[in-house]
Amino acid sequence: MEEHPVPMITVAVTGASGALGQALLRQWHRRGARLIALTHGVTPLVLRQATGEAIPLQQVCWQVGQEAALRPMLEAVDVLVINHGINPHGQRSAAATELALEVNALSAWRLLELFAEVVRERQAPARPRPEVWINTSEAEIQPAISPLYELSKRLIGQLLSLRALDLASTLRLRRLVLGPFRSALNPIGVMSADWVASQVLRQALDWNCSLVIVTPNPLTYVLMPLTTLSRWAYVRLTSRP
Ligand SMILES: NC(=O)c1ccc[n+]([C@@H]2O[C@H](COP(=O)([O-])OP(=O)(O)OC[C@H]3O[C@@H](n4cnc5c(N)ncnc54)[C@H](OP(=O)(O)O)[C@@H]3O)[C@@H](O)[C@H]2O)c1
Repeated sequence: MEEHPVPMITVAVTGASGALGQALLRQWHRRGARLIALTHGVTPLVLRQATGEAIPLQQVCWQVGQEAALRPMLEAVDVLVINHGINPHGQRSAAATELALEVNALSAWRLLELFAEVVRERQAPARPRPEVWINTSEAEIQPAISPLYELSKRLIGQLLSLRALDLASTLRLRRLVLGPFRSALNPIGVMSADWVASQVLRQALDWNCSLVIVTPNPLTYVLMPLTTLSRWAYVRLTSRP
């Protein structure tokens, strides 16, 4: 199928040095976007095209808990892809709980709110509409043999459902629900990060899906739309703007 190039837009991706972060940046580069790689490490990130040529990108260092420092950088961003994450596997200590909630859920939520604020304050409404993509994971609704990972991914998934009701007028929100792919976080994943990233961009940009699902598990394709729909109805009925 034909890939749609995007108008010249700036895309920032968190967790940029991870397997999916790099794969998403490569895919966005193929679509002609300007790239900002958000990493919490300081090692310079060098991404290459299949030809070996370096992919131009701006690398920005950030830390969980210091999201506000990213405000000036976000001024120039059209699409923010919130992708960073950790998997505490079998841990359940207080420290591991705090870290999982901070990294996987609360920092993602803070970035979402910060970007919405930045967009609201822009002088001229941006065209196309700014977007946030949040990588919640299939662990939102399926077991991942990692209780803290599931808990923190469910939290960010539910926060997204709750806040989407108010933020959707400012931002186009897309939820990425991905199955197991190979990375440092999941060395035995069955899919490759590059393939997953290509499917993510295909569903989001070519098919215009808000709920992007890439997984070999057929149950997720049935359960995830039902879950998001029932959450939307519940939150709408039981809360106010
Ligand atoms: N692998 C899977 O099977 C799978 C399935 C579904 C969803 N996901 C989700 O996909 C996303 C990317 O994961 P991945 O599989 O590509 O794993 P990965 O290769 O380990 O990448 C995760 C990245 O998150 C960033 N990160 C880690 N600890 C952090 C911290 N304390 N503060 C801020 N950033 C931190 C790091 O990037 P920087 O050093 O660049 O900051 C790290 O490289 C995660 O949200 C994960 O939950 C993964």
